[in-house]
Amino acid sequence: MNRTALIIGASRGLGLGIVERLTERGWQVTATVRNSMSVELLRQTGATVEILEMNDLAQIEALGLQMRKECFDLILVNAGVLGPVGDLRIAFDEQILGQLFLTNSLAPVVLAKTLAHQLRPGTGVLAFMSSRMGSVANPDGTDMALYKASKAALNSLVNSLVSAWEGPATTFLCLHPGWVKTDLGGDDGDIDVWTSTSGVVDQVMHHAGHGGLHFVDYAGEPVSW
Ligand SMILES: NC(=O)c1ccc[n+]([C@@H]2O[C@H](COP(=O)([O-])OP(=O)(O)OC[C@H]3O[C@@H](n4cnc5c(N)ncnc54)[C@H](OP(=O)(O)O)[C@@H]3O)[C@@H](O)[C@H]2O)c1
Repeated sequence: MNRTALIIGASRGLGLGIVERLTERGWQVTATVRNSMSVELLRQTGATVEILEMNDLAQIEALGLQMRKECFDLILVNAGVLGPVGDLRIAFDEQILGQLFLTNSLAPVVLAKTLAHQLRPGTGVLAFMSSRMGSVANPDGTDMALYKASKAALNSLVNSLVSAWEGPATTFLCLHPGWVKTDLGGDDGDIDVWTSTSGVVDQVMHHAGHGGLHFVDYAGEPVSW
């Protein structure tokens, strides 16, 4: 049986890499992008491409309706942004601050809730691209304090989602992909996209069917909340 996945935010970086790793392993993948321009690499994977601006509730609900007959072994909300870096006062603007927390914290969880019944009962995995920067006691990365707070908020919202879950039996993952060389991670990242995304897919396979909520990195190491 072919496994199926829905990957949110796959135009580039880790999302594109995850689609490549899954399709290489024979998965049937539906992938979302905000803009259908310049997704040639994504189309080359054979994935079905859908449009989703994750910060638009109407688009989330439309995708939910469109997917209502699908059954996915994996739904992974990967999309995220770095947001403002440096002095906290730079984000003293409701729109800038709102965009960051909407994209990184709230929208992923609302989207996941909307798609809950599309997970394969028992073995389905609902995964979120978090970051070890979201560990509340992590002292690193003080210049990206808002990004860190947005990922901590994501982890908290996922925890609430799991506690109130009424969907099918599911395994939940908050994933740390490593510090990866992407547009967001920058050129100094520790690892490349292939290494990170191969590990992320391995972790999905490893945890499927076991249930529970786990915060792990691409190599399978637990990350502290
Ligand atoms: N790279 C790292 O070292 C690292 C470490 C820890 C965690 N992460 C997390 O991993 C995820 C992917 O990061 P990346 O390094 O691959 O970043 P990236 O190269 O900047 O890619 C970000 C992706 O998110 C999409 N996206 C952003 N806002 C969106 C929105 N509102 N609606 C739909 N799609 C949206 C982007 O689409 P567009 O192309 O349309 O902008 C793009 O596909 C993020 O959640 C990030 O926080 C990354």
